[in-house]
Amino acid sequence: VSNLLFRSLFDAESSTYTYLIADVSTSSAILVDPVLEQVDRDLKLLHELGLTLRYCLETHVHADHITGTARLREATGCLGIVPERAHTACADRFIQDGELLKLGPITIRAMATPGHTDSHMAYLINGDRVLTGDALLIRGCGRTDFQSGDAGTLFDSVTERLFTLPDETLVYPAHDYRGHTGSTIGEEKQWNVRFVGRDRFSFIEFMTHLVLPQPKKIMEAVPANERCGNVAGTA
Ligand SMILES: [Fe+2]
Repeated sequence: VSNLLFRSLFDAESSTYTYLIADVSTSSAILVDPVLEQVDRDLKLLHELGLTLRYCLETHVHADHITGTARLREATGCLGIVPERAHTACADRFIQDGELLKLGPITIRAMATPGHTDSHMAYLINGDRVLTGDALLIRGCGRTDFQSGDAGTLFDSVTERLFTLPDETLVYPAHDYRGHTGSTIGEEKQWNVRFVGRDRFSFIEFMTHLVLPQPKKIMEAVPANERCGNVAGTA
């Protein structure tokens, strides 16, 4: 597994993590959840590391930032991959539950984890680390009050899918608002206050009564992301 290059990249405005995953032996790379405003940073890093971007992969259609996929695709010719059933008109390819994406010897397995949105995927990298998107955050979880979100479905995705991975599995979320950069499944099972001591019913109760502001960018971000971040195509 020494061929794996793994980097967390952060967008401070939306508190989004973009993950760079690369196979050093073939110099091929994937960006997961790229952010439009950070495309120049990402292209510079790919250039400096001598990597060819093969894919941009989304965990879900985001409401809080515009994806960098359209611009990265223009610049590199990479393919845009989104979860099946995601409402996008622009994907080059859809990925479904259990499907394997290969990057040289590196394996990326899609895990359907709906609830935050109805088409959300987590990605298990080489079996030892999982990109949890907005399904499972460090000591938190994504909201379920729009984009066809459903609290009961999210509870099932986290407790029956993510929490059944080995305890030592590394956890890398799509956002963090408190400065954390990583966790493990075991740590979240013990300390994630959204889930510890809550059954499905009380989790739904709790999520239903959360009062959260609308993401600042939802009106522009969701329609743009349905076009893979193609802002110019507004019509
Ligand atoms: Fe989200």
